[in-house]
Amino acid sequence: MNGVGNYHTHTRHCDGTGEPREFAEAALRKGMPRLGFSGHNVLPFPTDWTMPKENLSSYLEETRAVKAWYEGSLQVFIGLEVDYIPGLTSPAHPDIRALGLDFVIGSVHFVGPRDGQHEWTVDGDRAELDLALREGFDGSARALVERYYRLLGEMALSARPDIVGHFDIVKKNNRDGRYFSEDAPWYREAVDGALESIAKAGIVMEINTGGVVRGTSGALYPSRWILERARELAIPVMVNADAHAPENIDGHFPESLSLLRSIGFRAQRQLTSAGWADQPL
Ligand SMILES: [Fe+2]
Repeated sequence: MNGVGNYHTHTRHCDGTGEPREFAEAALRKGMPRLGFSGHNVLPFPTDWTMPKENLSSYLEETRAVKAWYEGSLQVFIGLEVDYIPGLTSPAHPDIRALGLDFVIGSVHFVGPRDGQHEWTVDGDRAELDLALREGFDGSARALVERYYRLLGEMALSARPDIVGHFDIVKKNNRDGRYFSEDAPWYREAVDGALESIAKAGIVMEINTGGVVRGTSGALYPSRWILERARELAIPVMVNADAHAPENIDGHFPESLSLLRSIGFRAQRQLTSAGWADQPL
């Protein structure tokens, strides 16, 4: 199992740029042996980043065609990044299971109902977060953050996606510590609760380099101290790019792999054509 794979990839079918074939070509060019597609699944309300309903079948068709075309030179896996919104959508939804995907990334981007049609998101810009805090959480960042991690833990145990996406993306707009401190006991407790659920569920946590490569948060998800806790809990990890363009499918990988090594991880988990396997670091 030489070389590392990337399993977090967004094509033009959702909010990425590039055809599935162009991502596969980039993987070959970079000498990557494995590539997973993980388009943002269709949601029951409109956003400007999830797949419009009419794109789902072409996404599946085109990624299947790429998988067949590159057989023997590149291992291609077809997945989705599925939101967990209680009562609305889940990685364990029968419609998702019925697609027969190779893998599913489970992510929490939403923390509560907004106006009967939309949900408050933690993955928007600062203005959107401020609005969510003011109108949805009585101005309490702690309430929003605690809800985020509660949902993440709930998702791990109830839906058991193969991979948990960008564990602490709730810090996206907190670069300057304006909303909370990661040293606060309540924050550490919320993180620990979610980590324990992930450990119990026996699922993989990704190190997501998207915030660094795209410059949105300037930080890896999750923070180093959270990875240290994950190692204590024996949670399997993998490095993923959250790539929205072909050239980014291995962005910040060497640094992330050496970070894992420096924490004491001996392996990262990979999906291969023979199933899930640990790749020595
Ligand atoms: Fe995401």
